[in-house]
Amino acid sequence: MLRYRTADLGAVLQEVIVGWDDIAGALQVKTPDRSLDVLLNRWLLYQALSCRVRARSAFYQAGGAHGFRDQLQDVMALTVAAREVTREHLLTAAAHQFPEGDVQHWWHPPSGRGVRTRISDDLIWLPFAALHYVEVTGDEGVLDEPAQFVEGAPLEPDEVERYFAPTLSKESATLFEHCARALDRSLEVGKHGLPLMGSGDWNDGMNRVGFHGEGESVWLAWFLHTNLWEFAKIADRRGEKARAARWREHVDRLKTALETAGWDGDWYRRAFFDDGTPLGSSSNQECRIDSIAQSWAVISGAGDKVRAARAMAAVEEYLVKRGDGLVLLFTPPFDRTPLDPGYIKGYLPGVRENGGQYTHAALWSLIAFAALGEGDKAGELFSILNPINHAGTRAGVYRYKVEPYVAAADVYAEPPHVGRGGWTWYTGSAGWMYRAGVEWILGFRFRGAALHVDPCIPRSWPGYQITFRYHSARYELVVENPHGATRGVSRIAVDGKELEKDVRAIPLADDGARHRIEVQLG
Ligand code: GLC
Repeated sequence: MLRYRTADLGAVLQEVIVGWDDIAGALQVKTPDRSLDVLLNRWLLYQALSCRVRARSAFYQAGGAHGFRDQLQDVMALTVAAREVTREHLLTAAAHQFPEGDVQHWWHPPSGRGVRTRISDDLIWLPFAALHYVEVTGDEGVLDEPAQFVEGAPLEPDEVERYFAPTLSKESATLFEHCARALDRSLEVGKHGLPLMGSGDWNDGMNRVGFHGEGESVWLAWFLHTNLWEFAKIADRRGEKARAARWREHVDRLKTALETAGWDGDWYRRAFFDDGTPLGSSSNQECRIDSIAQSWAVISGAGDKVRAARAMAAVEEYLVKRGDGLVLLFTPPFDRTPLDPGYIKGYLPGVRENGGQYTHAALWSLIAFAALGEGDKAGELFSILNPINHAGTRAGVYRYKVEPYVAAADVYAEPPHVGRGGWTWYTGSAGWMYRAGVEWILGFRFRGAALHVDPCIPRSWPGYQITFRYHSARYELVVENPHGATRGVSRIAVDGKELEKDVRAIPLADDGARHRIEVQLG
């Protein structure tokens, strides 16, 4: 770049360093696990922001495109350290939605060329990320911000996707309306009362499970359930009573379908093919159990409590491979089945989405264990997924073979490559690993002008500390665990003053001062 020929490069470098220090300085942790600290204090945020959000490029994928669902998930991890990045991206993503409610699966800036598809989950990540941003920051005003739509011819009945440059619509709407259209468009169900899977849900490789328009997704039902439920509350506050009522009715129907057709007997099924054949069921030879249908039963808060716990026990039994140090997406991998789930079958068994450790989904398993209060397991899973631990020995280095300081999208699960790291850097698992550590294990949650602390830690931890910034103020949070608990806050004091027993929201002050919060567990 020409401007760097005459610039004072020392000053430019200084600016870069200060910029990253500022982001990292938003939150620093000190736990008994040094390798966790190294990831949470610097590397995961660096990976998420520099590689995923800004460059959108790395060795395994030098794309440059925005994936609709991808960067929306990445920026969720930035709400603490760089909330303006999250806010801005919500509006950018909204501007890649068609007035009909569907969105570009990915697009290339600056032209906006991209692909219109029948993928069923993309659009719902907009309300999901918006909800998280509003919850963390309290900035509900973002929902009133306007964004334009993009326009283009709808897909023909027999067309699965089309790559084109849409035109900018004259129509503009609030972010709330963008989110609402995404939800309104997602209410169609199939024969079992579950949402239509279209040409794929979160698992891109399962693109032929429902591409004739009849296949259904169990995972999507959990995901939609949580979004409709939460967004109905916002719709109520905005006077959108009809929408709120419609969404709540749909939530009830989804719940029934999930606990009938969705339940397999020991865990939740993953999907139904166009012809009604189940997937992720004990009746399948391959992909008998898929983790995301179990973890989201918990994360959504919608699964029957007893069944959801049982389903996660099945995840532990079949998908957590302690000997190999892997947490699988599903098992067994696709290999010889006559079923046609999609291009996922083109990956070797145990590689990427085909039954490998798909770290993104493995983090959802971790989060689900934490949500169930299983602190030892959550901590153990973090250690398994932590890339630093893969390369802690000489043998580990030869086995893992990739960078130990960034999250890897996948780790191979079948011989002769068990434990070999796959696609590093450009992976959405970085942001989720950060969130799993900060929000679920350390239980650190901003809620507007309050902080909630609800840790779920290994019982062997004597405690941990977090220093963080709240606007102009600096806080030091000290958590002590004298009785070996995994969860359950028994005492909170702010600047030496104890909070009432039933008060769990710690008020935060934007006053330029330094404060100290003490929390006791057990
Ligand atoms: C890749 C894609 C992401 C997808 C995931 C699972 O990471 O970028 O959009 O959800 O794979 O298939």
